[in-house]
Parts: sequence; C-alpha cells; structure tokens
Amino acid sequence: LALVERPRDLDGLSIVVSAGGTREPIDPVRFLGNRSSGRQGVAIARAAADRGACVTLVAAHLGADVRPDPRVEVIAAGTADELGQAMDAVAPDADVIVMAAAVADYSVAAVSEHKLRKQDSPGGLVLELRENRDIVAGLVSARRVGQTIVAFAAETVADDAELLERARVKAARKGVDLLAANAVGWTRGFETTGNALTIVDAAGEIVAIASGSKDDTAHAVLDAVLAVHRR
Ligand code: CTP
Ligand code: CA
Repeated sequence: LALVERPRDLDGLSIVVSAGGTREPIDPVRFLGNRSSGRQGVAIARAAADRGACVTLVAAHLGADVRPDPRVEVIAAGTADELGQAMDAVAPDADVIVMAAAVADYSVAAVSEHKLRKQDSPGGLVLELRENRDIVAGLVSARRVGQTIVAFAAETVADDAELLERARVKAARKGVDLLAANAVGWTRGFETTGNALTIVDAAGEIVAIASGSKDDTAHAVLDAVLAVHRR
C-alpha cells in the first residue's frame, strides 16, 4: 500500500462540491433519474479535505457503495430544485464551487399525489416535463471576486476532438472558470472506478487532460482549480 502525502495546498479554502444524480418525482413511488453515482464528486470532496480545505458536499442520490468522507459536511438534496436551493445557501461563503452533480434538465410538470394507475392511461402515458433552472448559471451570475466555479459535462461523442469542442462551447456558454468533460455512453463512463477528464478554462484553453482512478482525476481537478484561482 503506497500512501502519497499530499501538500496541504488548499488550507484555509472553503470548497463546495455537488455530486450524484437528482431524482425528479413522478408520483410517490416513481422518479426520473440518471446513471450518476456521485463517485467523482465524492472523490473531489475527499481529495480537497486531504489537501486541507473545509469541504461541504451537496449530495443528490449517491451509489450504495459511495460514501462521503467523514471530514466532509454533507447536505442532502434529492431533486434539482432542492439541489439548487442548497447550492444557493452555501455558495456565498465558498471560495471554490465544483458542480459535479448530474442535475435533471427537466422535472415532471404535475407530480401525482397518488400512485399512477395503468387504468388511468391505457395503452401509453405522456408525461409533461418542464425545464429546470440552470443552477450553475445562477451561481456564475452571483459569483463574487475571487470565487472559482467549476462545471462538469458528461458527453456522448465520437472522438477526443468532439469532446474538446463540446467542452469549449459549454465552458463559454456557462461562463464558468473551468469545465471538466468526460466521454460517456451505454458502456462507458458509469459503474467504473476510473475516469478520463479534459479540463478547459473559460477561454477554452486546455488546462489538463487527466486519466486514472477517480482519486487521480479528483486531484487533477483541484490542481486546475489552484492554477486558475491564483491567477
Ligand atoms: N447544471 C446545473 N443546473 C442544471 C443543469 C446542469 O447547474 N439545471 C450543471 C451541471 O451540474 C454541470 C453543468 O451544469 O456542472 C453542465 O451540465 P450539462 O448537463 O452538461 O449542461 P446543460 O447546460 O444542461 O446542457 P445539455 O444537457 O443540453 O448538454
Ligand atoms: Ca443537462
């Protein structure tokens, strides 16, 4: 077992990380969800604590085997709406915000108070969805001087060039300081211990291309944060 001693280069910094997938209720027993386990965000929170930061984790739904580090303060948020409220509450005091959560783009327009019955929608069901607000866009417009905001993007792409192009476009559209993009698909990006991230800054410049365990890529994200935070 090799223990790598990390520098405490985040000492005194307050970091808020969101992680996991939101679940949007349909009725009291059903939801719309996504495949995010929260593993990368939880690894970033732990890595930041290892490096001396004061860490808050806003946790949507995490995989059963994904457990936040005990040094990290955890705020539970089930839906996109709850996650947005939690982020708005803790963001003003944060030096660094990392939005690793997989936030649902839509929620169910009319959540049923009772369990939906097939007999009410014979042959098929149409659910009306409405767009959720963009949480990180709100954090960017409220950003104070010296605050560093990181977004994530999981993209289905044909190749590295397309991933980079999508990362650049999204970083510019979101107005974030850094965007970490990874390729996903039916058989890649989920239920895996490793990850590969392309990290770009606001200008679309590549800051890092990192791969390895989710702990390795967590530290790469924090290295990139320090590089732009000090600018
Ligand atoms: N995000 C957010 N609020 C939302 C949706 C996404 O804050 N309602 C954040 C995610 O946490 C992530 C970043 O925005 O850090 C990018 O998410 P992504 O889904 O890739 O971007 P979208 O703007 O939703 O664009 P699209 O899904 O159409 O690619
Ligand atoms: Ca989205």
